[in-house]
Amino acid sequence: MPDLVAHGVLAGLDEIADTGRDRRAGGYSRHLWQSADLELRAWFTERAERLGLNVEVDRNGNTWAWWGAPGSDAVVVGSHLDSVPGGGAYDGPLGVVSALEAVARLQAAGFTPGRPCAVLVFAEEEGSRFGVACLGSRLLSGAIDANRARALTDRAGITLGEAAATAGLDPAHLGRDQESLDRIGIFLELHVEQGRGLIDLREPLAVASSILAHGRWRLSFTGQGNHAGATPMTDRRDPMVAAAHAIVSVQQAALASPGSRATVGRIEAVPGGTNVIPSVVHAWLDARAETDAQARAVVAEITARVQAPHAGCSTSVVEDSWTSTVTFDPELAARLVRTLGGLPALAAGAGHDAGVLAARVPTAMLFVRNPTGISHSPDEFATLEDCVAGVEALDTLLRELL
Ligand code: GLV
Ligand code: MN
Ligand code: MN
Repeated sequence: MPDLVAHGVLAGLDEIADTGRDRRAGGYSRHLWQSADLELRAWFTERAERLGLNVEVDRNGNTWAWWGAPGSDAVVVGSHLDSVPGGGAYDGPLGVVSALEAVARLQAAGFTPGRPCAVLVFAEEEGSRFGVACLGSRLLSGAIDANRARALTDRAGITLGEAAATAGLDPAHLGRDQESLDRIGIFLELHVEQGRGLIDLREPLAVASSILAHGRWRLSFTGQGNHAGATPMTDRRDPMVAAAHAIVSVQQAALASPGSRATVGRIEAVPGGTNVIPSVVHAWLDARAETDAQARAVVAEITARVQAPHAGCSTSVVEDSWTSTVTFDPELAARLVRTLGGLPALAAGAGHDAGVLAARVPTAMLFVRNPTGISHSPDEFATLEDCVAGVEALDTLLRELL
């Protein structure tokens, strides 16, 4: 029944199509435990319970929907529902909706799993509220120190610990969750592709081979806050000028190291007034490269360039997060390729919860073609036909793995 299946895949995306729409930025802004995220959590719970799954929120805010009793050596399929500011409709939700759809198809076919199975939705994959990407999977796996995590703040100065308490979690229990981690036998994440790899290969699906080494750093420039009219141009210590100079250095350092990527996607002037020379400017750097050494070298070069005094300002560079190059389990990837009758392998430029979990459990990813080649933007897309191919692949894999 390809039409029904097709309708089912997009029905989930349709149901959440109005949740977290961002009129200013376009696309979606769905941030941890804020209104859109809470709505999506309720939607997921309702959807999963309709399939007879048992929904549990773990102590880090990740949501598990168990098909049958929870248990060890489970096949866990999932992704995330949060977004970047002004993100697309597919980054995260496609994986969640496809996992639910694959379970629904197996149930409709009368399939009974031979081992535990869960659909897992990770919290704060994008790091859009608290600044650290893949926060839910880092907390679960112990890849971030719980004390450090509790103290992370959002743009309003609310700590993760405070936000967790408001969401009904015990902040003291945030952090490595060995019991949940031990239940995962295999983790599988289906995700929309975020670049042009599958367009170039002319294929609808691929299996992930690796993820670039990547991290985030906060660059802060401190000058002297002052009056925009009363302060002569020659008598200023303007951190916005130092930041502008630094941003050009970021681009130059990455261009000088072929294959690396470095971006300043967020900047904040304090206090932020049109007629105020800022006292401080913060700029957030995202840097990535194929190897840890290359990514580290690019950031070292950027640090050296931005720390040379400019506009009479001082500079600090603080690492917010770091993830080494991920190589996905080659045996599991080969099993996926065999089961699906041949699939290309693709290296990912984007980070994923699967990349964090790969350090702890056998993990694999499937990518679904994105015909625009654009992501973290409302222009991200996947065709109905390719989404159906993704669900069918998950269905086939779950039959094999369960
Ligand atoms: C997540 O999408 C990331 O790589 O930033
Ligand atoms: Mn993303
Ligand atoms: Mn994602």
